[in-house]
Amino acid sequence: PRYFALIPAAGVGARMAASGPKQYLKIGGKPMLRHAIDAFLFSELIAHTYVVVSADDPFIDSVVPSHGVTVLRCGGATRMESVQNGLAALAGTLRENDWVLVHDAARPGLDEALIEKLITSTGEHPVGGLLALPVVDTVKRSIAGEVGTVSREGMWLAQTPQMFRYRLLRDALAAATDSARDPRQVTDDASAVEALGLSPKLVEGHPRNMKVTMPGDVRLAEMYLATAQP
Ligand code: CTP
Ligand code: MG
Repeated sequence: PRYFALIPAAGVGARMAASGPKQYLKIGGKPMLRHAIDAFLFSELIAHTYVVVSADDPFIDSVVPSHGVTVLRCGGATRMESVQNGLAALAGTLRENDWVLVHDAARPGLDEALIEKLITSTGEHPVGGLLALPVVDTVKRSIAGEVGTVSREGMWLAQTPQMFRYRLLRDALAAATDSARDPRQVTDDASAVEALGLSPKLVEGHPRNMKVTMPGDVRLAEMYLATAQP
């Protein structure tokens, strides 16, 4: 089987509230997006890496390496749209059964070991798989002032990469678009697949693969990167 990486990097980073898109913020001296790209470039299992950015992105050319990565300037209004547009652009390149590993540009802590763990553990699973972390905290749900505790049994926090076969992922995202669901609710790829009634495999990830979302996350990500990898 062939494995491809697709990195959606067309967000604006509203919650980070930096002067530019957060994927270009430096983590340990290197742009966040470049960390994500390098993890796939260093992995021998990945055939090619694609990055989705906005059509008018002025920063990407200075960040992307000269070999092994193709930039797709077709970002959309939501993460889901960016992934969909990227997959559509690869219609003549990828085969139905090729695996696509979709990974957030905002997760600079990914490394080859986690990529290989995901691919090896998912194997030839009929649906696909994703990295995720078991929930360790007590979970509360508060709706209109009514508070309850949700059992954390069986609860996981989704990370990326999330790997699915090209055809299944395209179909799942198309179905999610057709349904009345708000596309902003489809915050990862697996949820679109699950909506078809399919169960992907959860593969335990690592805290270092955190998503950099809020301003304080930058230093936390730098701390993980400075720590020797297990
Ligand atoms: N993303 C994308 N296209 C969008 C929105 C998000 O490709 N229209 C990408 C981001 O660049 C990021 C990943 O999806 O790599 C995860 O999204 P998130 O962490 O939410 O990033 P932003 O949307 O940029 O941040 P915010 O939601 O705070 O604006
Ligand atoms: Mg977002």
